[in-house]
Amino acid sequence: MIEARPYPAHLIETWVVGSDAGVFIRPALREDHDLVARFLSSLGKDSHYQRHFQHGAAPDLDLLQRLDAVDYRRRMALVAVTVAGSREVVVAHAEYVAEDGRAELAMVVADGWQRRGLGSHLLRRLMHCAALAGLREIHGQVLASNEPMIRLARRSGFQVLRGDDARLVVIRRALNGPDAAVEAGIPGFAAWSQSTATA
Ligand SMILES: CC(C)(COP(=O)(O)OP(=O)(O)OC[C@H]1O[C@@H](n2cnc3c(N)ncnc32)[C@H](O)[C@@H]1OP(=O)(O)O)[C@@H](O)C(=O)NCCC(=O)NCCS
Repeated sequence: MIEARPYPAHLIETWVVGSDAGVFIRPALREDHDLVARFLSSLGKDSHYQRHFQHGAAPDLDLLQRLDAVDYRRRMALVAVTVAGSREVVVAHAEYVAEDGRAELAMVVADGWQRRGLGSHLLRRLMHCAALAGLREIHGQVLASNEPMIRLARRSGFQVLRGDDARLVVIRRALNGPDAAVEAGIPGFAAWSQSTATA
């Protein structure tokens, strides 16, 4: 049974990608299921492969199931959303699942939105969420050939380590706890931190 948590609406932000395009970044909702499925289906084959380590165009059912189980602490997902006409369109997704104080992350940015800083920003946001949740480490598996993600991870303070599988590297970074998130000046973190600490 998944423990219900209040939606952390204070984590919604607008962010300017490059110099001209705005996106909303917000914690994902279970109701985002179809939007996220459409986003996953729209990925180019390289992005799909780098995210899922396998070829194929089918939406990732495990990811969609995790979306149904978000609790904003041990299971967190963020989406970056833009509006096309009157419809919301997801252009990036980042998530972690935590166990024993360690968060395992994964993320993907839509092909047309890559190389404009969105991935870096989303990773920072995800790290702050994990720190706020009291997690002590964040890590992920990345294809050893995935230069963009490895660069991004290094620049974000991650170590890059050899994995058990020769195709993969492990990226890993210690988190400094909720105080670091508050100090980093994310709006609303202090209030949410206090309210969830006493919940
Ligand atoms: C990895 C990924 C999330 C980066 O997102 P992004 O929005 O392009 O990231 P940024 O614009 O913040 O750029 C991050 C870094 O990667 C570099 N980069 C981005 N695309 C690149 C490319 N195609 N080739 C080489 N470097 C690239 C950028 O130059 C930047 O490095 P720098 O600041 O040192 O110059 C995105 O490429 C992606 O979704 N890839 C497919 C899924 C994936 O690989 N997920 C990771 C495994 S979970």
